[in-house]
Amino acid sequence: MGTVWLRAALMTAAGTAGPRVCDLQAGQSIEGVFGVAGKRLRSFRDPSKGQYLELDLRDVTGVIPGRVWDNADEVAAGFDVGDVVRVRAEVTQYREQDQLVITAVETLAMDKVPPEQFIPASPRSLEDMERELWSRIESVRDPHLSQLLLDLFGRAEFYKDFIMAPAAKRIHHSYLSGLLEHSLQIVSVLEVSMGADMNRDLLVAGGLLHDVGKVEEFSWRGAGDYTDRGRLIGHVVMGFCRVREAIRRIEEFPPNLGLHLEHLILSHHGRQEYGAPVVPQTQEAVALHHADLYSGKVAQVMSVSEGVRDSEGRWSGYDPVLGRFIWVPEDDGALPRETT
Ligand SMILES: [Fe+2]
Ligand SMILES: [Fe+2]
Repeated sequence: MGTVWLRAALMTAAGTAGPRVCDLQAGQSIEGVFGVAGKRLRSFRDPSKGQYLELDLRDVTGVIPGRVWDNADEVAAGFDVGDVVRVRAEVTQYREQDQLVITAVETLAMDKVPPEQFIPASPRSLEDMERELWSRIESVRDPHLSQLLLDLFGRAEFYKDFIMAPAAKRIHHSYLSGLLEHSLQIVSVLEVSMGADMNRDLLVAGGLLHDVGKVEEFSWRGAGDYTDRGRLIGHVVMGFCRVREAIRRIEEFPPNLGLHLEHLILSHHGRQEYGAPVVPQTQEAVALHHADLYSGKVAQVMSVSEGVRDSEGRWSGYDPVLGRFIWVPEDDGALPRETT
């Protein structure tokens, strides 16, 4: 208690990140930049003291709790979950856990802070993935699907979101450019596995566009979090709407081709209990669903396996999402992943 509110005193150069969460130690006085992952006003035990503000602050290395004891209402009104803030604080310990006692906070413009500070980046090179994306788009021979892809990916704002968005907040491809990596992987899986009588161009378009609603479902800017629209509507329906609008912009788009692509997007989760409004009802839709499942599941197992290697163990703990333990044999020969 008794701290002085110093909002105006925070004048360090924009872009100075300060210490990372993993480097914080009790006793330090710090000025650092963090994403707001949680924000709650709580009442003091003595109600006459009003409220304090409880924060979860994070960067790419971890999360640390923060407390603002004074002027909590006023401070809380200045930013939202997902925003990026610069704070001045003391690192203290409470019940053997580090926490920040914050004496000043300033909200930063999201474009001033590199997103890699809060969300890890894809292990694949973005440049390589962009090259692969355009070669996939250029490989589509059907004139209407080609026009559709060029129309969508030619929009600068959408393109930036598509190549930067994670595919999820957790579970699989939950890093910057994860959506692009996941979509390209699905097209690669489909290319080698599709039947001769399947519509190849439709599958390429479906693979690239199936999760396109994720650019609206999750904000990769700032601290990164689900959007209100994302939680309330979800990427399957948002992707369907975006593709349907794009189809309507193209003159004489064959109705059944448009219907089939819309079906691919709406059915790609495979089962209604997994969020698909309809189940896959064509050979292309079944193929896309299984390629999506393959990409997601393998990425989950890879991520758990990496954790096992980092801990130098051989078995993961029980993974409730996968519903199993994962074994990483000692001589599995896994090489470090490409990071350039
Ligand atoms: Fe999806
Ligand atoms: Fe997907």
